[in-house]
Amino acid sequence: MGMQERLEQLKQLREKIHAGGGPKRIEKQHEAGKRTARERIEMFFDPGTFVEINTFAGDPDISNLKNPGEGVVTGYGKVDGRKVYIFAQDFTVAGGSLGRVHAAKICHILDLAMKTGAPVVGLNDSGGARIQEGVDALNGYGEIFFRNTIASGVIPQISVIMGPCAGGAVYSPALTDFIFMVQGTSQMFITGPQVIKAVTGEEVTMEALGGAATHNQTSGVAHFMAPDEESCLQMVRLLLSYLPSNNLEEPPLYAPQEPVGNPEELLQIIPDNPNMSYDVRKIINLIVDGGQFLEVQPLYARNAVIGFARINGQAVGIVANQPDYLAGCLDINASDKISRFVRFCDCFNLPLITFMDVPGFLPGTAQEYGGIIRHGAKMLYAYSEATVPKITIILRKAYGGAYLAMCSSSLRADAVFAWPTAEIAVMGPEGAVNIIYRKEIAEAENPMEMRARLTAEYREKFANPYVASARGYIEDVIDPRDTRSRIIVTLESLAGKRETRPRKKHGNMPV
Ligand code: HXC
Repeated sequence: MGMQERLEQLKQLREKIHAGGGPKRIEKQHEAGKRTARERIEMFFDPGTFVEINTFAGDPDISNLKNPGEGVVTGYGKVDGRKVYIFAQDFTVAGGSLGRVHAAKICHILDLAMKTGAPVVGLNDSGGARIQEGVDALNGYGEIFFRNTIASGVIPQISVIMGPCAGGAVYSPALTDFIFMVQGTSQMFITGPQVIKAVTGEEVTMEALGGAATHNQTSGVAHFMAPDEESCLQMVRLLLSYLPSNNLEEPPLYAPQEPVGNPEELLQIIPDNPNMSYDVRKIINLIVDGGQFLEVQPLYARNAVIGFARINGQAVGIVANQPDYLAGCLDINASDKISRFVRFCDCFNLPLITFMDVPGFLPGTAQEYGGIIRHGAKMLYAYSEATVPKITIILRKAYGGAYLAMCSSSLRADAVFAWPTAEIAVMGPEGAVNIIYRKEIAEAENPMEMRARLTAEYREKFANPYVASARGYIEDVIDPRDTRSRIIVTLESLAGKRETRPRKKHGNMPV
């Protein structure tokens, strides 16, 4: 063959691989409301920046390719000018199922991302282990799980679920940092509806079992939900804008933006009555650059709010109690949600800003039997372990163990500020009075009146920021309108913070 013929052969082969499972299967994919792997990659990256790797991996018999591309497209491209590695499973080829070569292509991407310190995004759309390849397919998953684990905390890993994700296919996403799901077209489960019916008799649809709503609201497996593929991929780009490419870099600096709204509004949000609730996101939105807050897991454990924002151009992780839901109490799910987020921010050099208004841990047998002790302990562990700059603002309630768990000075917050509305004590006035004045109340002529008077006295004496300030647990009591400027100067003062911990293999977090 001469050069021209060889070039023609190369062109045809590439076209065949680019065509994936062929027009019929592509049409079926489109009819299901899904894009192909290559269409998704084009939508995701800065235009024209995608470079494919291992295009020809797979069957050496190029005259008769059974699974063009082996059901996955891999490579790298740019997101806002920064390199990101990608793998996109191609459902049109053997249902995107994972065989030996498919797995090797993904592993190669993970290896390159680790070597060069760049994030990895996985677009998952797969029937799981390729049944015909047996143990090779299982081994392939194991190789991916191992790499996901080793890469954890070194490079950001993001999983996007854009189709079915069954069996072992869900564990790779679960080992990564964030999971995105598309409403209506993506599902994740360990065992599908048919197996469940056979084993337990339970009947459930694929969507109810493992759809986007289920994993974003109920299980907490997923972190973001999007109405369609395009907006989902745009959200992934937005998330990446807050993150460094690896654990040795700082997050990218953006031009500072003024906050949106009038800081005077900060004086109106917390109701005068301490038993009334409010939406803590109003406070966050008035403090961060441009009022832009990317909330993570907004539908799960809504008593805690976590997410990314910028303050004076610097990316930060924000954690807050949400008085609007369960009065902002910490429970099992909120503890898990917060502690995992705190650890992520610590891995990737994102300072932590914590807004505290917490009446305590949620009481009850469901919580105790569910292991609130070990779940709540994760927060103590995660905040104690974190060495990034940590700034805490006590907005209102700061009671008991929950006060400690929300990044108190004892867990090595670098600076704790309190609003004048802060109440810091072992427990709320009502509970405290019932315990320490039980006898006085019981013996009083009018117990109700006595309780009310003692509660008011307790509140006056203990439920304020000045006792803790006097002890040095609080750096300053601040005017709420100054919150943003105090965070900015404190972050500046903490730039270059270095805090070391004893050398060890790794700690033993109460998981
Ligand atoms: C080989 C597979 C496949 C698989 C799908 N296909 N899954 N081929 N191995 N695991 C093929 C189908 O044969 C079909 O080929 C094509 O992909 C499209 O599949 P359909 O069934 O037509 O599509 P759809 O109706 O949309 O259903 C999608 C699905 C279903 C829900 C994913 O295919 C399914 O249930 N697949 C099996 C899921 C599963 O149990 N996987 C194994 C999990 S165990 P043709 O040629 O007809 O187009 C596992 C162990 C790993 O993963 C453990 C690691 C620790």
